[in-house]
Amino acid sequence: MNKLPSPQDIAMLYGNRFLTEDAPSGDFPDGGMSALDAMRLVDEELALEGDPNRNLATFVTTWMEPEAQRLIAENLYRNFIDHAEYPISAEIEQRCIGMLADLYHAPGETTGARTQGSSEAIMLGALSLKWKWKERREARKKPVEAPNLIFGGDVHVVWEKFCRYFDVEPRIVPLQEGKYVIGPEDVEPLIDENTIGVAAVLGTTFTGHADDIVGINKLLVDLKGDRGLDVPLHIDAASGGFVWPFLYPDSEWDFRLEQVRSINVSGHKFGLVYPGIGWLVFREKSDLAEDLVFYENYLGKTDATFTLNFSTGASMVLAQYYNFVRLGRQGYTYIMEAMEKNARALADRLESCGDFELIGAGKEQLPLVAFKLVEGKNYDEFDLSWQLSAERGWMLPAYTLPPDAEDVKVLRALVKETLSRAQIDRLAADIATACATLEKKGGAHPSERKQVKTGTGY
Ligand SMILES: Cc1ncc(COP(=O)(O)O)c(C=O)c1O
Repeated sequence: MNKLPSPQDIAMLYGNRFLTEDAPSGDFPDGGMSALDAMRLVDEELALEGDPNRNLATFVTTWMEPEAQRLIAENLYRNFIDHAEYPISAEIEQRCIGMLADLYHAPGETTGARTQGSSEAIMLGALSLKWKWKERREARKKPVEAPNLIFGGDVHVVWEKFCRYFDVEPRIVPLQEGKYVIGPEDVEPLIDENTIGVAAVLGTTFTGHADDIVGINKLLVDLKGDRGLDVPLHIDAASGGFVWPFLYPDSEWDFRLEQVRSINVSGHKFGLVYPGIGWLVFREKSDLAEDLVFYENYLGKTDATFTLNFSTGASMVLAQYYNFVRLGRQGYTYIMEAMEKNARALADRLESCGDFELIGAGKEQLPLVAFKLVEGKNYDEFDLSWQLSAERGWMLPAYTLPPDAEDVKVLRALVKETLSRAQIDRLAADIATACATLEKKGGAHPSERKQVKTGTGY
């Protein structure tokens, strides 16, 4: 007589063991499950995750062409750092750095690095600022105990992180109501001989505008002439580095300006690659402090590395190169202009309905709409963010600006490649409907407000 299968065997036969069991969590599982079950367990859990296509908060790429996706999938097993075994991937990294240096008008031969994102690029770039400052001070037999770095309250949190991790005094220019970027007048009073550099942003996380980079550069050039203080300027072009060259090619913010010594950019933002890629580019080879480069004999070949991480996949470097050769200047320009047009279309719709005020409209800006409610509403931006997500699933972040502009509440919609004109119209209509609901009910419940997406998104 045939033995009846055990419940375990039945589960193996029909799959979905996890359907009637808690998902493994906390304790390391004693036994496993079938590959199909494991895949479905993860897949089904993710069904309740936010939908990247309705995420208006993130700057990060949420769509790539199938050909690029194929390249990524086919190269996931390649460890980028193994330069000896994978010299072509390393060469492709160098080609990308060369192309970015060209895009940013580097005057001659230069160097740079592929990173995990702008955060790693900023840590490395700022470390180089610190080391170069130390070199200059030691050459003059001056003390090197109290380095400082100047930036505005409009920067990403990574700049403060750098200062804390690497023992540098942050000198932060506060924002004010109506002034959300910084200029030379803010920087000048903070500079002294211990300033390792000034960081300026091209495309801030908060409103998408640029600091007055031309003005800050002029201040630093004058300072070099008048006081002999050579203070380098680093540009945090995490988002703007793939927008300004195509939307505002005549606007000077890069190596065309004398004191700009290094630039970071996120490939995974407007570089249009999936997460996991950033770039650091120096003006000249000598802007990278030689002490930060490690030469090691790795698997029989001398390898020079300048990174915080070691092993990482090659896929995103290859995907970045794919985008560069696939799109070129013409393709990037076309895509950036399309996003910009759709951002303006959304801005027009929001402004004309009379409920909103745009922030910094008409200035050079990332393809996004930063806006706030007009005075006199019986609900606020946080209520609207909640209502819109509850009604239609849009993730539209609401947040307050950094000090001293923390009383200003902002909503901000990124307009990316996936947001077509039809989607823009739908979004504008959904925002109007959410406003109408709130007019009637007078704001969200406090428990709903607790669930609002308050981060600026990355
Ligand atoms: C201006 C700016 N700098 C740095 C970063 C950090 O970039 P990443 O996420 O690539 O590390 C961001 C991310 O949003 C940013 O907007």
